Amino acid sequence: MTTITVIRGDGIGPEIMDATLHVLDAMQLGLSYEDADAGMVALEKHGELLPEATLASIAKNKIALKSPLTTPVGGGFTSINVALRKHFDLYANVRPATCFPNTKSRFSSGVDLITVRENTQGVYIGEGQEVTADGETAVLTSRVTRHGSERIVRYAFDLARKTGRKKVTVVHKANIMKSTSGLFLKTAREVAAQYPDIQCNEMIVDNTCMQLVMKPEQFDIIVTTNLFGDIISDLCAGLVGGLGLAPGANIGTDVAIFEAVHGSAPDIAGKGVANPCALLLGAVQMLDHLGMPEQAARLRKAIIGTLEAKDSLTPDLGGEGSTMSFAKAIASRI
Ligand code: NAI
Ligand code: MG
Repeated sequence: MTTITVIRGDGIGPEIMDATLHVLDAMQLGLSYEDADAGMVALEKHGELLPEATLASIAKNKIALKSPLTTPVGGGFTSINVALRKHFDLYANVRPATCFPNTKSRFSSGVDLITVRENTQGVYIGEGQEVTADGETAVLTSRVTRHGSERIVRYAFDLARKTGRKKVTVVHKANIMKSTSGLFLKTAREVAAQYPDIQCNEMIVDNTCMQLVMKPEQFDIIVTTNLFGDIISDLCAGLVGGLGLAPGANIGTDVAIFEAVHGSAPDIAGKGVANPCALLLGAVQMLDHLGMPEQAARLRKAIIGTLEAKDSLTPDLGGEGSTMSFAKAIASRI
């Protein structure tokens, strides 16, 4: 039996996790769950944001399914999501965006891309965050290494080979950030040269955003640095029907954490209307990672079937269903 660490999170987190586990249970996969707390919930219960027991559970099981965790904007504590990624060196953040039926999206076909976001470097290192005493000037340190760039670009090209994808687009801002983005681009070119079977092109991030909105079909795999990947993957989620349909995998050499791209959605938390599909699609990625591709395909098919039938869809998709009624509709198609 495979045991996975389950982090229920806060905001809409517990609601979408209940829904997701309901569907996984219906699949009778032989998974067992080990609950662990992180973020605000952990602070209230155990007096710390990231308890040692949580880190130990993830280290032991090597797989976690995680709901969103709130991070205060501006002041307050630093992101527990970022802390988890750093602690386990989860360097690849893999975020697919695909068209699904009956979503309220700009594109009903043509979008099928994966954003591979570097997950441990850039402006997310949390160093050098300073505001001068007079409050007039603020600085932040960004760091990119050759090693970090090489392994993320290599991950993207290997993913292309593994999934039969044909093209990798390296997204950067090396015209302005000549040091950090420049090193990333230079390293990416070196890695790309080792994959002659995969087409590679380069694109500056601002143009990439326009191209994604105008002609998303030109993209297959995008590989980029941390902040650009964060922004671009939300943009891609918007193209295909919103954050409720966008999953993400955080992959390291030893441990992997699967989640939704979206956050804790405080505006709809506790109302039972959050779309559970993003976390469920994160579970699809998890099953693939666990070497259960048939089960992953089965779950994905049940989600698509439910969307096609417009059965109990949540309000973000134009329906009147609830988080749990949507999950039950998916479970009934398993
Ligand atoms: P958000 O992703 O929580 O919400 C953005 C918008 O999308 C909201 O209107 C929300 O209602 C909607 N939305 C998100 N998920 C949805 C779902 N499953 N179904 C239907 N609608 C959905 O982003 P926001 O508001 O910027 O961030 C809220 C908090 O979440 C912040 O504290 C942020 O730091 C945290 N966050 C955590 C992440 C994680 O745990 N991996 C990722 C992103 C944000
Ligand atoms: Mg984000």
